Amino acid sequence: MSVRRALITGITGQDGSYLADFLLDQGYEVHGMVRRSSTEKFDRIEHARDRLILHQGDLLDQRSLVDTMRAARPHEIYNLAAMSYVAASWVQPTLTAEFTGTGVTRMLEAMRETCPDARFYQASSSEMFGKVREVPQTERTPFYPRSPYGVAKAYGHHITVNYRESYGLHATSGILFNHESPRRGLEFVTRKITWHAAAIKLGLEVKLRLGNLEAERDWGFAGDYVRAMWLMLQQDEPEDFVIATGTAHSVRECVEIAFDHAGLEVDEHVEIDPTLLRPAEVEHLVGDASKAKRILGWEPEVGFEELIRMMVEADQALLKHESSPHGVRRL
Ligand code: NAP
Ligand code: GDD
Repeated sequence: MSVRRALITGITGQDGSYLADFLLDQGYEVHGMVRRSSTEKFDRIEHARDRLILHQGDLLDQRSLVDTMRAARPHEIYNLAAMSYVAASWVQPTLTAEFTGTGVTRMLEAMRETCPDARFYQASSSEMFGKVREVPQTERTPFYPRSPYGVAKAYGHHITVNYRESYGLHATSGILFNHESPRRGLEFVTRKITWHAAAIKLGLEVKLRLGNLEAERDWGFAGDYVRAMWLMLQQDEPEDFVIATGTAHSVRECVEIAFDHAGLEVDEHVEIDPTLLRPAEVEHLVGDASKAKRILGWEPEVGFEELIRMMVEADQALLKHESSPHGVRRL
């Protein structure tokens, strides 16, 4: 059988890097789209760099999307690129709409023009459920987004469904609940917590400032979730799937597990910072992935406590290395 080619947008991000590793292991030729920057930030894919084919492009630039697809000739396209940090979407609402919303249409148009027989994965989000209409959330739960990011993702979701129905594209939308890893960006709450637990333990920091400790999320491991993305594109018929663990935990529980693992007292180090509260909050998310279990045979393998402990240990190792005379400390 000839080699399968995959194109990943957002390959430098958390999910893109795990998906690249997964697809390389499956024998794919992996292409990635990257943005031009004055300083390259390819840390998450550095270990696999010589096995990846990178193309310069941007979700804002139609020409670059068309050229990237022409060059990559993908059988599978994973559209993971987005402005993905919810809090920043109130600061840059229009740009978020352009990247995270309209960017999806640009991708679908480029695919329609250059490779209409490819299969397309859209990174939809549980943030679309926002002020939830039912518990747990399924593929049929109505959306009620609570942030400019959630609104933009709802647009991206609907345009993916629309292009599937309008043009017969094999376009699938994966509604993924929060997923984390040692490669998670430092601004997201789990990584912020595990990094600070490690840094405080090593004497590099004293305090951890957080916003809403009562918010609850259904947190899984990114490595498990990229496997679900791939499984979705192996189906004969494109359909949408919720991917979740089915269990919710609060930010407070996350802090307790991380600090306990680092051997620290929460009360001595954690402070509430009201400036970190969001203009509109998503209080509680928990997903029902029964459809994915039934049709894809997908199950998460890493549980929440194991995930947070794994992240604390990875941050301890990272900070020990970076604070050594041979390392560079990074925030
Ligand atoms: P991430 O770590 O923030 O990565 C985002 C990626 O998008 C980066 O590679 C970034 O490139 C790229 N990007 C941003 N704007 C771009 C643009 N205009 N043109 C081209 N590339 C651009 O996000 P993630 O956690 O891996 O999430 C992957 C996708 O899944 C995102 O769409 C996110 O919204 C969605 N999602 C994530 C979760 C989750 O819990 N992780 C849950 C549901 C859905 P740079 O490196 O150049 O910045
Ligand atoms: N980031 C952050 N920083 N969040 C905090 C903090 C803090 O200091 N303190 C409390 N939180 C709360 C937020 O208010 C939110 O309720 C929760 O922690 C999770 O925040 P994030 O980790 O930033 O993730 P998110 O749920 O807003 O968004 C992530 O998950 C979505 C899927 O539901 C992102 O990965 C999105 O891209 C993704 O779509």
